Amino acid sequence: MRRLVTNTLELFHNMIRTYVSPGDHVLDATAGNGNDTILLAESVGEDGKVYAVDLQQTAICKTEERLIKAGLTERVDLHCMNHAQIDRLGLVGLSLVMFNLGYLPGSEKKVATQGESTIQAIAASLRALRPLGLILITVYPGSDSGLSEHTELQEFWQTLDQQVYDVMEMKFPNRRNLSPYGVMIQKLR
Ligand SMILES: C[S@@+](CC[C@H](N)C(=O)[O-])C[C@H]1O[C@@H](n2cnc3c(N)ncnc32)[C@H](O)[C@@H]1O
Repeated sequence: MRRLVTNTLELFHNMIRTYVSPGDHVLDATAGNGNDTILLAESVGEDGKVYAVDLQQTAICKTEERLIKAGLTERVDLHCMNHAQIDRLGLVGLSLVMFNLGYLPGSEKKVATQGESTIQAIAASLRALRPLGLILITVYPGSDSGLSEHTELQEFWQTLDQQVYDVMEMKFPNRRNLSPYGVMIQKLR
């Protein structure tokens, strides 16, 4: 026996390892320092494709550096853009979309995800997802902007039609200080 999981990001990484198959097309909607992009690139294999987006050029450069070191650049298309506009990439048939909200770790915290643009990006991701595809979102309600984003997101996913989407929250309700939590959305058809 061992501890099952220490945080939602770890849980999501385990889900990615079992759910994403070689040849899949996936999207990292918040590339940041590239940790999730690297795992996704490993998981889609040589024939798959990862689209990785971030608003900040610093984040795109960090992710690119990590991909070069790992020899995975061929599998990843990097885009410095607002994820609210991902419709412009014309993505279809995605098996998984990853959102790790908040600010770039190690940065000045000036650029953080915001409820309105996150909702636009999730809505666009739902359109780009193949049937049974997943969206995995880590939410950080512990800061001021994170708290308002969390409130807006709660309202958004409660409106999603249960005939079309499963929405599941993964929380640690006994942890102090509004701890981060995960949300999984599966498109049923
Ligand atoms: C918590 S970090 C992501 C961590 C990353 N997934 C990793 O593995 O290192 C959140 C990222 O979201 C980016 N971001 C904030 N608002 C955004 C937006 N509207 N569109 C795209 N990226 C955004 C930030 O620049 C930051 O790099």
